[in-house]
Amino acid sequence: MEKKTIETNYTVYNFDELSESYQMLINKAKEQVSKAYAPYSGFSVGAAVELENGEIFAGSNQENSAYPSGLCAERVAMFYANAQFPNVAVKSMAIVAFTKGIFLPDPITPCGSCRQVLLETEMRFDQNINILLYGTKNTYLIENVKELLPLCFEKSSLQG
Ligand code: THU
Repeated sequence: MEKKTIETNYTVYNFDELSESYQMLINKAKEQVSKAYAPYSGFSVGAAVELENGEIFAGSNQENSAYPSGLCAERVAMFYANAQFPNVAVKSMAIVAFTKGIFLPDPITPCGSCRQVLLETEMRFDQNINILLYGTKNTYLIENVKELLPLCFEKSSLQG
Protein backbone atom coordinates (compact mmCIF):
# COMPACT_ATOMS: atom_id res chain seq x y z
CA MET A 1 0.00 0.00 0.00
CA GLU A 2 1.18 3.50 -0.72
CA LYS A 3 -0.57 6.64 0.42
CA LYS A 4 -0.30 9.60 -1.96
CA THR A 5 -1.20 13.28 -1.64
CA ILE A 6 -2.17 15.81 -4.28
CA GLU A 7 -1.75 19.53 -3.64
CA THR A 8 -3.58 22.40 -5.27
CA ASN A 9 -1.61 25.62 -5.72
CA TYR A 10 -3.21 29.04 -5.89
CA THR A 11 -2.34 32.61 -5.02
CA VAL A 12 -4.55 34.95 -3.04
CA TYR A 13 -4.67 38.61 -4.11
CA ASN A 14 -6.45 41.80 -3.23
CA PHE A 15 -8.15 43.18 -6.31
CA ASP A 16 -5.75 46.18 -6.36
CA GLU A 17 -2.75 43.87 -6.59
CA LEU A 18 -3.93 42.30 -9.86
CA SER A 19 -2.67 43.39 -13.29
CA GLU A 20 -4.82 45.82 -15.25
CA SER A 21 -5.81 43.13 -17.75
CA TYR A 22 -6.95 40.78 -14.98
CA GLN A 23 -8.91 43.60 -13.33
CA MET A 24 -10.55 44.34 -16.67
CA LEU A 25 -11.52 40.69 -17.18
CA ILE A 26 -13.02 40.53 -13.68
CA ASN A 27 -14.99 43.70 -14.39
CA LYS A 28 -16.38 42.09 -17.56
CA ALA A 29 -17.49 39.10 -15.49
CA LYS A 30 -19.06 41.43 -12.90
CA GLU A 31 -21.08 43.16 -15.62
CA GLN A 32 -22.58 39.80 -16.54
CA VAL A 33 -24.35 39.06 -13.26
CA SER A 34 -27.12 41.51 -14.14
CA LYS A 35 -27.79 39.35 -17.21
CA ALA A 36 -28.03 36.06 -15.31
CA TYR A 37 -31.34 34.19 -15.44
CA ALA A 38 -31.46 32.79 -11.91
CA PRO A 39 -35.08 32.96 -10.69
CA TYR A 40 -34.83 29.63 -8.84
CA SER A 41 -31.59 30.02 -6.89
CA GLY A 42 -31.31 33.80 -6.71
CA PHE A 43 -27.59 33.14 -7.16
CA SER A 44 -26.10 35.00 -10.13
CA VAL A 45 -22.74 34.08 -11.61
CA GLY A 46 -20.73 35.92 -14.25
CA ALA A 47 -17.81 34.56 -16.24
CA ALA A 48 -15.51 36.18 -18.81
CA VAL A 49 -13.03 34.45 -21.07
CA GLU A 50 -10.04 36.09 -22.75
CA LEU A 51 -8.67 34.46 -25.89
CA GLU A 52 -5.11 34.52 -27.17
CA ASN A 53 -6.20 36.95 -29.93
CA GLY A 54 -7.51 39.45 -27.34
CA GLU A 55 -11.20 38.70 -27.92
CA ILE A 56 -13.33 38.53 -24.77
CA PHE A 57 -16.52 36.50 -24.37
CA ALA A 58 -18.68 36.61 -21.30
CA GLY A 59 -21.72 34.78 -19.98
CA SER A 60 -23.96 34.22 -16.99
CA ASN A 61 -25.84 31.28 -15.49
CA GLN A 62 -29.07 30.35 -17.25
CA GLU A 63 -31.54 28.40 -15.13
CA ASN A 64 -34.56 26.35 -16.13
CA SER A 65 -37.76 25.14 -14.44
CA ALA A 66 -36.44 21.65 -15.22
CA TYR A 67 -33.43 22.34 -13.00
CA PRO A 68 -30.73 20.16 -14.63
CA SER A 69 -31.43 21.76 -18.02
CA GLY A 70 -29.89 25.05 -16.88
CA LEU A 71 -26.22 25.87 -17.40
CA CYS A 72 -23.51 27.50 -15.27
CA ALA A 73 -21.95 30.80 -16.28
CA GLU A 74 -18.56 29.18 -16.86
CA ARG A 75 -19.85 26.79 -19.51
CA VAL A 76 -22.00 29.45 -21.16
CA ALA A 77 -18.93 31.71 -21.53
CA MET A 78 -16.48 28.96 -22.51
CA PHE A 79 -18.73 27.33 -25.11
CA TYR A 80 -19.59 30.77 -26.50
CA ALA A 81 -15.88 31.58 -26.91
CA ASN A 82 -14.95 28.18 -28.39
CA ALA A 83 -17.90 28.31 -30.76
CA GLN A 84 -16.82 31.69 -32.14
CA PHE A 85 -13.08 30.93 -32.32
CA PRO A 86 -12.60 27.16 -32.51
CA ASN A 87 -8.91 27.53 -33.37
CA VAL A 88 -7.85 30.13 -30.82
CA ALA A 89 -6.53 29.19 -27.36
CA VAL A 90 -8.04 30.56 -24.18
CA LYS A 91 -5.67 32.60 -22.01
CA SER A 92 -7.69 33.33 -18.91
CA MET A 93 -11.10 33.23 -17.31
CA ALA A 94 -12.67 35.29 -14.51
CA ILE A 95 -15.57 34.06 -12.38
CA VAL A 96 -17.69 36.13 -9.96
CA ALA A 97 -20.80 35.43 -7.89
CA PHE A 98 -23.56 37.78 -6.68
CA THR A 99 -26.38 36.98 -4.27
CA LYS A 100 -28.59 38.84 -1.77
CA GLY A 101 -27.47 42.15 -3.23
CA ILE A 102 -23.70 41.70 -2.93
CA PHE A 103 -20.70 40.24 -4.70
CA LEU A 104 -19.41 37.52 -2.42
CA PRO A 105 -16.38 38.41 -0.24
CA ASP A 106 -14.72 35.05 -0.93
CA PRO A 107 -14.66 33.40 -4.34
CA ILE A 108 -16.79 30.53 -5.53
CA THR A 109 -15.05 27.73 -7.40
CA PRO A 110 -16.45 26.11 -10.55
CA CYS A 111 -18.59 22.98 -10.20
CA GLY A 112 -17.25 19.59 -11.27
CA SER A 113 -18.93 19.62 -14.69
CA CYS A 114 -17.52 23.06 -15.45
CA ARG A 115 -14.03 21.96 -14.39
CA GLN A 116 -14.29 19.08 -16.85
CA VAL A 117 -15.32 21.45 -19.66
CA LEU A 118 -12.59 24.00 -18.86
CA LEU A 119 -10.03 21.20 -18.77
CA GLU A 120 -11.05 20.02 -22.23
CA THR A 121 -10.35 23.51 -23.60
CA GLU A 122 -7.02 23.74 -21.79
CA MET A 123 -5.92 20.39 -23.23
CA ARG A 124 -7.41 21.00 -26.66
CA PHE A 125 -5.11 23.99 -27.20
CA ASP A 126 -2.31 22.63 -25.02
CA GLN A 127 -2.11 25.95 -23.20
CA ASN A 128 -2.67 26.78 -19.54
CA ILE A 129 -5.80 28.77 -18.73
CA ASN A 130 -5.34 31.16 -15.81
CA ILE A 131 -8.44 31.08 -13.65
CA LEU A 132 -9.36 34.16 -11.62
CA LEU A 133 -11.88 33.52 -8.86
CA TYR A 134 -13.04 36.92 -7.68
CA GLY A 135 -14.22 37.87 -4.21
CA THR A 136 -14.49 41.40 -2.83
CA LYS A 137 -12.12 40.41 0.00
CA ASN A 138 -9.90 37.85 -1.74
CA THR A 139 -9.30 36.88 -5.35
CA TYR A 140 -7.67 33.54 -6.14
CA LEU A 141 -5.44 33.03 -9.14
CA ILE A 142 -5.12 29.41 -10.22
CA GLU A 143 -2.58 28.99 -12.98
CA ASN A 144 -4.20 26.14 -14.85
CA VAL A 145 -7.36 24.06 -14.87
CA LYS A 146 -5.49 20.86 -14.08
CA GLU A 147 -4.87 22.27 -10.56
CA LEU A 148 -8.64 22.22 -10.10
CA LEU A 149 -9.17 18.73 -11.43
CA PRO A 150 -6.50 16.29 -10.38
CA LEU A 151 -6.87 12.62 -11.37
CA CYS A 152 -8.99 13.80 -14.26
CA PHE A 153 -10.58 11.88 -17.10
CA GLU A 154 -9.33 13.21 -20.43
CA LYS A 155 -8.83 12.39 -24.09
CA SER A 156 -5.91 10.03 -23.47
CA SER A 157 -8.01 8.10 -20.91
CA LEU A 158 -10.10 6.88 -23.85
CA GLN A 159 -7.11 4.98 -25.21
CA GLY A 160 -7.42 2.56 -22.30
N1 THU B 1 -23.52 28.27 -10.78
C1 THU B 1 -22.69 28.78 -11.75
O1 THU B 1 -23.15 29.37 -12.73
N2 THU B 1 -21.36 28.61 -11.58
C2 THU B 1 -20.77 28.03 -10.49
O2 THU B 1 -19.56 27.98 -10.43
C3 THU B 1 -21.59 27.48 -9.42
C4 THU B 1 -23.05 27.53 -9.63
C5 THU B 1 -24.95 28.51 -10.92
C6 THU B 1 -25.79 27.29 -11.20
C7 THU B 1 -27.13 27.72 -10.66
O3 THU B 1 -27.77 28.52 -11.64
C8 THU B 1 -26.78 28.62 -9.49
O4 THU B 1 -25.45 29.04 -9.70
C9 THU B 1 -26.90 27.95 -8.13
O5 THU B 1 -26.20 26.75 -8.10
